[in-house]
Amino acid sequence: MDRKAMTNEENYHFDVAGYFIVPGVLTVAEIKDCNQALDRLGAVDGTLQCTVPSCTPLLALRDHPVLVYYLEQICGEGFRLDQPPRLIGLGAGQTEPLLSEGSEWQDWSRAYRQHNGIRFCQGVRALWALVDVKEDDGGLVVVPASHNSSVDAPQELVHGTDDMGLVVQPVLQAGDLLLCASSVMWGMRTWQEKGPQRLFECGYISAEVRPSTETEITGSESTMPEWTAELTPVQRAVLHNPNRPYPPPVVHSDGKTTRLAEKPGIFHPSTYTHNPDSGIDEKEFFHWDLCGHLVLQGVMDANWLEAANEAIEANADQVSTGGSAAGDSKPLAGTGVGRSSMGEPWKLPTPHGELFQRMIAHPALIQRLNWIMGSGFECMLCSAFLSGKGSSGHSLHAAGEPAKVTNHYRQQNGRVYSEYVNVAWQLRDVTLADGGFVCVPGSHKVSYPMPEGIRTCDDEMELVRHVEMKAGDVLLFLASAQTHGAYPWTGEQNRRMIFFQYRSRNLYVP
Ligand SMILES: [Fe+2]
Repeated sequence: MDRKAMTNEENYHFDVAGYFIVPGVLTVAEIKDCNQALDRLGAVDGTLQCTVPSCTPLLALRDHPVLVYYLEQICGEGFRLDQPPRLIGLGAGQTEPLLSEGSEWQDWSRAYRQHNGIRFCQGVRALWALVDVKEDDGGLVVVPASHNSSVDAPQELVHGTDDMGLVVQPVLQAGDLLLCASSVMWGMRTWQEKGPQRLFECGYISAEVRPSTETEITGSESTMPEWTAELTPVQRAVLHNPNRPYPPPVVHSDGKTTRLAEKPGIFHPSTYTHNPDSGIDEKEFFHWDLCGHLVLQGVMDANWLEAANEAIEANADQVSTGGSAAGDSKPLAGTGVGRSSMGEPWKLPTPHGELFQRMIAHPALIQRLNWIMGSGFECMLCSAFLSGKGSSGHSLHAAGEPAKVTNHYRQQNGRVYSEYVNVAWQLRDVTLADGGFVCVPGSHKVSYPMPEGIRTCDDEMELVRHVEMKAGDVLLFLASAQTHGAYPWTGEQNRRMIFFQYRSRNLYVP
């Protein structure tokens, strides 16, 4: 590698999603040598005993110069091997797919954090694809952006009973290198191909953090100096032991006496307790914080939907048609049909205006905005997006970077803080075939500039997500912090979306 630093696209992808793919690192010959080495080993899932000479091609992956280059960027100089080479797969006897816990990191030794312009990625998993992994092949799955989550993951997500539309199976070609932050939620799905999966993994940690139990030298206390034999168990538990196992011993204290816990573990008290009476749906809370958007399903009933659609049709003279919002983007340009909209449908004459006025403070919306923004939010505007087939999309805009007063987002002590929230009521079903709203989930926490390919959708980097919805659903998204836009409208029926913007009590814009 002759580059001095990762590209902005690589940094952006890693920061938004917690992983990125370096394509085509291995040559055909290298892939073949590695697969033959695995064949000779008779390798199945699990740690590989790479001690025989025929393992040389596999050991070369562990120290591959391209991998070393990226590890120095991500983990920092002095990174160390922590997880010896292994083939990942469903463990023996594991039939139920599970995800790693993720959620609020309490383990700084494997955490991901951007602070004061510095990236701390304390653990990295390097996965080499030695066979192709196509869409729906199964195998490794991840929850993108979960390395930046500080909210406990819902148990249904962890246990695989509800993937919440958040679980992604990366698509890889033989020879690709997948680099993944250790704190990204991950799991294994049943491998659907006939041949073996052949994802070869090594784990690395940064220089100054604790190694995993597997690589740690564990053993007796023989290296403790002789004089320590006279210490109490509590004193010995606290005194530095170069061979201390993990998890470490726990010493409790009431301020007057100390007590050694029966079992080692982690004891880390908090001043806060979980509040089951908050009125917040925990899946919604996790989804909002992880992605920066949320869909409330079925808020409008059939009668209201029908009446609202009729109101739009009855006031066709209020529809105006403008130009493109795609800017210089070719993928978002459409076929030149103008974008149609209706200003302030809440002002339509009786009986039509009321159908939109009741959206302003609908209970389902107020309940969410209270925890998303805190009370005191104001509804600033309303318009109807009514574009027809062939009209342009909207180039992607808004981001968490650069930080501004208006795009502030934070989750702290169980509260989320959001300053601008857009609310889009769907009067018709929206599928991928129709086009419409797209976003970059997780981009409200990003620390790198939005790449040009994302803005124009010329290179979506597998980060741009189209959100499918049903008529009657309501979409909420972080207007100024989550990168969003729209695909050209390609549906046979015109778009029917009623758009509102809410501003928090914290902002003042004359
Ligand atoms: Fe926008």
